[in-house]
Amino acid sequence: MGYIGSHTAVQLLLSGYQVHIYDNLCNSNIDTLQRIKRIAGKDLGFTYGDIRDTQKLTAALKENSIEAVIHLAGLKAVGESSKKPIEYYSNNTQGSISLIQAMQAVHISTLVFSSSATVYGDPVYLPYDEAHPTFPTNPYGHNKLQIEQMLHDLAFSDKNWRIACLRYFNPVGAHESGLIGENPNGIPNNLMPVIGQVANGKLAQLSIFGNDYSTSDGTGKRDYIHVMDLADGHLMALNWLQENLGCHTFNLGSGSSFSVLELLRCFEKVSAKKIPYQIVARRPGDLSEYYAKVDKAEKILGWKTRRSLEDICTSSWNWIKNSKNN
Ligand code: WQD
Repeated sequence: MGYIGSHTAVQLLLSGYQVHIYDNLCNSNIDTLQRIKRIAGKDLGFTYGDIRDTQKLTAALKENSIEAVIHLAGLKAVGESSKKPIEYYSNNTQGSISLIQAMQAVHISTLVFSSSATVYGDPVYLPYDEAHPTFPTNPYGHNKLQIEQMLHDLAFSDKNWRIACLRYFNPVGAHESGLIGENPNGIPNNLMPVIGQVANGKLAQLSIFGNDYSTSDGTGKRDYIHVMDLADGHLMALNWLQENLGCHTFNLGSGSSFSVLELLRCFEKVSAKKIPYQIVARRPGDLSEYYAKVDKAEKILGWKTRRSLEDICTSSWNWIKNSKNN
C-alpha cells in the first residue's frame, strides 16, 4: 500500500469493491492501512508478503476469493534502477511473472498493471500517444516495457485475460484529508517531495536541474497528474475490464505540461511559503518536456483528469503539514 495503491484502495472501497492488499512494505508503512480504513469508513484485508513468493501469493488470492488484481508492486526509482539493475529485474519483472503464475493457478484473469510514460523515452513527437515508439533508457523503464510485452503475449495466448496497462505520467498530490500521501524513504528524487521537504524545513532549498531547456521559462516541463485522478483511472479501467477481453494500453495524464517554476510558484501561492531555490546543472537523462495524449482513456474508459495544478499543490501542502505532526 504505497503511494498510488493507498489512494486507489480508498476509491475502490468507496465505490463498493472489497479490497485486500498484498505488500512486503519495502516502501510503505503498515499505518497506512488504518488511514485507508479511516478515510473510506470501511474495512480491508492485508497480507504481508513478497510478490516473488508465488506460493504465499497464490494462497492469499485463493483464501480471500480475489476476482481481479491491481498490480502496483514495483520498485520505481529511475536512478536506483541503474545502480541496482538486478534488484529491479528481480522485483519488477520476475515479480510480475510470479504474480501471473499465481493468478493462473487460481484462475483469475483480470489485471490492471501499473506502467509508466517512461516506456516512451525521447519524444519522436508530442504529445505521446499510445502508439508512440517505445525506447526506455533505464532498467526501470525496460522492466515496465518487458512486463507490458509479456502481458500482451499472455492475452494473445489465452483469450480469457482482461488486462489494462496504465502508463502514468507524473503522479503528484495527496488525498484531500491529508491522511495519506507520498512518503519516500530517504532523500527524495522527485520534484514534489523535494518541494515539500523545503516547505517543512527538512531541506534548505530546491535545486532546479537546468534552466536552459527550450521551454517557456527554460525549466523542464512535465504532465503532472493528481494521484486521486490516477486512482479514479484504476477504478474506471477495472470497471471497463468487466465487459472487455484482451490486453489494452492507456495513457493516464492530464494532457498538458507545467514547468518546474510554474509548479513552484503554484505551491508558494497555496502554502504562503517561500521556496528558496538555486539553478544547478541539468540532471543526466532528463527530458526537456513531455505530456500525454489522453483521448484514448477518455473515449474508451470515460476517464479524464478533474483536478487542477492548484488542487495538486493544495493537497500536497495539506499532507506535508499533517505528516510533520505524525
Ligand atoms: C520533474 C521535473 C526535473 C527534482 C520520474 C520518473 C518517471 C515517473 C515519474 C514513474 C524535471 C525537475 C526534479 C529536483 C528539479 N515515475 N526537478 N529538481 O524525472 O519527470 O519522472 O517520476 O514511472 O519514470 O523518471 O520526475 O519529479 O524527478 O522531475 O529541478 O530536485 O523536476 O529535472 O524537470 P521525472 P521528477
